[in-house]
Amino acid sequence: MKTPKWLEKATFYQIYPQSFYDSNNDGIGDLNGIKQKLDYIKWIGCNALWINPIFDSPFKDAGYDVRDYYKVAPRYGTNQDLEDLVKAAHEKGIRILLDLVPCHTSDDHEWFKASCRQEENEYTHRYIWTHDAFEKPNNGLQAVGGMKDRNGCYVISYFHSQPSLNYGFYRIDDPRWQKGMDSEEAIKTREAIIDVMRFWLSKGVDGFRVDMAACLVKNDYNDEGTRATWKKIFDVIKKEYPESAFVSEWSVPEWSLKCGFDMDFYLDHGWNGGNGYHHLFRCQEVDKNNHIILKDDSYFKTESNKSMMRFLNEYIRRINETRDDGYYCFLTNNHDMPRTSFFYNKHELEIIYSFMFLMPGVPFLYYGDEIGMKFLNVPTKEGGYYRTGARTPMQWDNSKNLGFSKASKEDIYLPVDEDKDAPTVEKAKKDPNSLLYLFKKLIELRNTYEDLGNVQNFELIDASENRKFVIYKRGNFYFLLNPSVYDEKYYLDGNFEIIHQVGNIDINNRIINKSSFVVLRKL
Ligand code: NOJ
Ligand code: CA
Repeated sequence: MKTPKWLEKATFYQIYPQSFYDSNNDGIGDLNGIKQKLDYIKWIGCNALWINPIFDSPFKDAGYDVRDYYKVAPRYGTNQDLEDLVKAAHEKGIRILLDLVPCHTSDDHEWFKASCRQEENEYTHRYIWTHDAFEKPNNGLQAVGGMKDRNGCYVISYFHSQPSLNYGFYRIDDPRWQKGMDSEEAIKTREAIIDVMRFWLSKGVDGFRVDMAACLVKNDYNDEGTRATWKKIFDVIKKEYPESAFVSEWSVPEWSLKCGFDMDFYLDHGWNGGNGYHHLFRCQEVDKNNHIILKDDSYFKTESNKSMMRFLNEYIRRINETRDDGYYCFLTNNHDMPRTSFFYNKHELEIIYSFMFLMPGVPFLYYGDEIGMKFLNVPTKEGGYYRTGARTPMQWDNSKNLGFSKASKEDIYLPVDEDKDAPTVEKAKKDPNSLLYLFKKLIELRNTYEDLGNVQNFELIDASENRKFVIYKRGNFYFLLNPSVYDEKYYLDGNFEIIHQVGNIDINNRIINKSSFVVLRKL
């Protein structure tokens, strides 16, 4: 299976639709709002979108609890609005990925309601139920009992409102209620989800970000059952839509890319031993409310003394294993974690974002990170809990609600940043040193020099366990990364020109200053 060619030049912008732009003044972001901001996204240099779930939902997990896969949630618009958005985006050269949630539905989904009935019906096995309301699974699965008339406990994926769809079991240890991964019941679920993909792809959508992609098959060993299931799904869908693109929330690229995904998020869920992402950016200890940082051992924290090896060892092994299989995706942040700006100052952010956006793979920019939006201390909304602080409305300008919505302050989805210095797009556009222009420049660099593009090329030149300074290379470009408190001497033969620089370098004496990141091109 080949990854679509367009990914070679793709740079993504992630939109949390309820918080992006409200076009009809009801206080919540919507599809027409996204349509009105396409020129802004294009101006930054992004040419693809990932939009978080937009399907009909009771929103107990912000739309990751789908009630109807075939219907746009009325608060975002209509199916026609989505088609119009796709058309408008395509006219501007922007692709769109929707968010597919294949592991579970909402407990308000018609399939689940039917599955809860005592009498056998078409959907009895669409979800995973134990054979007895008093007997919970004893193999680590979470299940809910005593809530429905059907005599059994239903397995959940995440919150109680998210019952797991039945893709079968890799290892069956209780045949009274577990079905095989190639059972008729599992095949029916697979086909149902393929139909959902087909429906939206036929409307022009370019693909999907796939939620919890690693979790389809239960009692799985090394995700083997889930991998086999994805292969079967892609065998069908990629034949019909060879240009469609899929990015997995899996973070084990050597598995996800080999079963047919085109891209995998390089986040660290700690599965399969972890992939090192965590050590780069997110080794913080925070207080129980997640709003005070107690300790920071991340590589990119200037004062930490942690080397980059914890990441490099994992990363290099993986890219060697997956060289031609697809792309890794670094994201500035997403809707599930505190914004990066919460942990780092502007200078550190410039280093981090320069690093991320000049790595191989397909980069993802989370809305608002381009202006340094804050992680706000706001009350929970729609199952967000601590994550809610990273989901607040986009800050456009200094007008009412920072330009997000003309609704009254009490009626907007989440409060906007009330600080008088709250960043906005308007302010960032007037400041040549803003993060916004940094992103614009980084994307331009990617597009100008093939060596700096998405296609895999990364060669480590120098790194060690006992210092932070690292040199690596992409084609003709040399990266000197020194997020530390020490100036460092470097040894590179040849003549170089500076292509990009955060902090300082003394090229004549070959010294890179503390807290600096410089990209050199060999002449
Ligand atoms: C991952 C999503 O990113 C998150 O927001 C959601 O709550 C869970 N999956 C459950 O679907
Ligand atoms: Ca609206």
